[in-house]
Amino acid sequence: MVRILVTDGMSASAVKELKEKGFEVVEQFYEPEVLGEELKNFDVVVVRSATKVRKPIIDKALEGGKLKLIIRGGVGVDNIDVAYAEEKGIAVRNTPNASSASVAELALAHMFAVARFIAISNVSMRDGKWDKKKYKGTEISGKTLGLIGFGRIAKELAKRAEVLGMKVLYTNRRGKVEGFDNYEYCTLEDILKRSDYVSLHIPSQNGKALIGKDEIAMMKNSAYLINCARGGVVDEKALLDALNNEVIAGAGIDVYEEEPTKNTELINHAKVSVTPHIGASTKEAQTRIGEEIVKIIIEFFK
Ligand code: 3PG
Repeated sequence: MVRILVTDGMSASAVKELKEKGFEVVEQFYEPEVLGEELKNFDVVVVRSATKVRKPIIDKALEGGKLKLIIRGGVGVDNIDVAYAEEKGIAVRNTPNASSASVAELALAHMFAVARFIAISNVSMRDGKWDKKKYKGTEISGKTLGLIGFGRIAKELAKRAEVLGMKVLYTNRRGKVEGFDNYEYCTLEDILKRSDYVSLHIPSQNGKALIGKDEIAMMKNSAYLINCARGGVVDEKALLDALNNEVIAGAGIDVYEEEPTKNTELINHAKVSVTPHIGASTKEAQTRIGEEIVKIIIEFFK
């Protein structure tokens, strides 16, 4: 029987379907020190971002083990040593289509949160304050959204921003994308200088921050930085300095250099709206991810 280990959770409907189709499914998180050993007993491992599948774990799993397939239920595969796994004959798959709308909606939620002081108002009201005068916001309508990266999530966000009356700029490592003439293709520098909201939609850059001190310095003082992509793409120290020195107006952040983050100064900052990496954590996205995982497994073992 094909044995599947699910370490970071998967929709109940996908678990049920796989079991009905004759697969054995075990839902259990293992600490990194024991994961490799445990994986010896499984043909497939399904992870989200919490479980890291690094070289030593792959090596251990292959010592007499039978692991053949690693599935990332989600988009980013930066928690898996993909090239190494493939070199060792283990296939790696992800579910890149399922969560685009959810992540785009969260980015938009952070934009509204910072524009209208929603996050900090929640904090201050629960603290017994009535800071009506302090929280004079701005409208999103009529403002410019600059998208860094123009993949599935960025396109979903662009669609929504356009409907809200925003002007949309984008930059993309592949250059101008055909069929999106309502949006303006720009250089990264242009995006940073012209946008009221800069939103990141790129994968991890191998730990390198694309947005650091110099890039933030190019942004308008009134602009907001939104990161629902990957923590390491923004230099958190540079961002904190910029917020403290009024270089930019605020930030909406879902992802962190380290997760769970220990950067309490950043997450407690009055100009910041934060969420704990929940971009893909919606019922709809997780249901679609589960459906894609079932398809991948059935196809793989056909
Ligand atoms: C992704 O890459 O799919 C998102 O960052 C979501 O990650 P998660 O599955 O760990 O929530």
